[in-house]
Amino acid sequence: MPLSYDKNKVRILLLEGISPTARAVLKSAGYTNIEEYPKALAGNDLIEKLAGVRVLGIRSTTQLSKDALESADKLMVVGCFCIGTNQVDLGMALTCGIPVFNAPFANTRSVAELAISSIIALMRRTPEKNLALHRGIWTKSAKGSREVRGKTLGIVGYGNIGTQLSVLAEHLGMNVYYYDIEKKLPLGNTRPISTFHELLQISDVVSLHVPETSGTKNMIGAKEIALMKPGACLINYSRGKVVDIEALAEALKSGHLAGAAIDVFPKEPKSKDEEFVSPLRGLDNALLSPHVGGSTEEAQEAIGIEVADKIVRYIDNGSTTGAVNFPHVALPQHPGAYRILNIHKNIPGVLGQLNAVFAEAKANVAGQFLQTNTEIGYVVTDIAGVGDPEIFRAALKTIPGSIRTRILH
Ligand code: NAI
Repeated sequence: MPLSYDKNKVRILLLEGISPTARAVLKSAGYTNIEEYPKALAGNDLIEKLAGVRVLGIRSTTQLSKDALESADKLMVVGCFCIGTNQVDLGMALTCGIPVFNAPFANTRSVAELAISSIIALMRRTPEKNLALHRGIWTKSAKGSREVRGKTLGIVGYGNIGTQLSVLAEHLGMNVYYYDIEKKLPLGNTRPISTFHELLQISDVVSLHVPETSGTKNMIGAKEIALMKPGACLINYSRGKVVDIEALAEALKSGHLAGAAIDVFPKEPKSKDEEFVSPLRGLDNALLSPHVGGSTEEAQEAIGIEVADKIVRYIDNGSTTGAVNFPHVALPQHPGAYRILNIHKNIPGVLGQLNAVFAEAKANVAGQFLQTNTEIGYVVTDIAGVGDPEIFRAALKTIPGSIRTRILH
């Protein structure tokens, strides 16, 4: 069934050098009217560019403010081709009836792989050996250099990354334990530990994979480090504020911790023009990276595919599964029926009025799907037995609280 509009007329704007995989997915779904920019746009430049745009793809730099969203009267869907969505005024997008999609898991494997590489590097003390050689010092010695096989890895936060890491670490012969505040199904031979402190005490390497919350802020401080085995290693590829960086620097200087691999910092430079300042600078047993745990070409490609797929499913079918600000509706195909998608304010009586419109036209409602959140309702109705569903458009617009209606036919 064709859409109620020509797919080639759907204007798509992709900013910030989004992976070509996104274009490929959109094109193969029939959406060819795609304009791409390598950089972010801001202020009036963004507002002007948004005129007539129905699909917007951004990464983390473009700030999609209330003003920008309000001015984009044709905008139907936003894809954040990244993990975070703080750059979008999600509340305003919701009020405008615009679902926002992202790719929360596409870089999971990249982080887990880098953590594995760091576990081995720290246990072998190669960061220090590397720096010594750069200074002309030949430190050929086995002292303090250990295999990972048979050692204990303690994972804090057994979510997407924590579970992937556990699978990879087990393949290296590590004994893996995890601590999580939620009950999680252990994979392979990995075992849960009931207290965080116990995990710290038994682990040769502790790897942090928790979100930034009030409960995780400084969850590794001087007290927790003291509980860790002498000579243990710490990995933080989660969020900078999870570790008290001063306390970590002290433990690395004193040698209580043999090494640490840190990718995220409480204070990170906004660009390469800003200096990186940290008490970890100059410590040879600190393996530092500039928040690149999830930054690989594969992750960028996967993000392009995942977000573009979600956009296509929303425009073609109405499915909102995975939207960060919108009620989730997973929809079947609708052969032989027109699909009418209505987004409305979540106020009493809208559904009744909507169905009254269909009843009056003697339309056969073949299926109806409704999801609401505190602010909006999203109702999808499959209609058969009417000649032209466009007859409903004007009537649905007059229902108080109706924000927008789309018709797929
Ligand atoms: P996730 O949400 O799948 O897993 C987080 C887990 O931590 C959940 O199982 C949750 O129950 C658990 N948790 C929450 N509070 C806890 C606490 N106080 N103690 C123990 N467990 C707790 O998240 P995902 O995708 O695994 O990401 C983990 C972290 O990695 C996030 O902070 C994310 O921002 C970060 N990340 C960093 C990247 C980088 O480039 N360095 C790239 C991707 C993610």
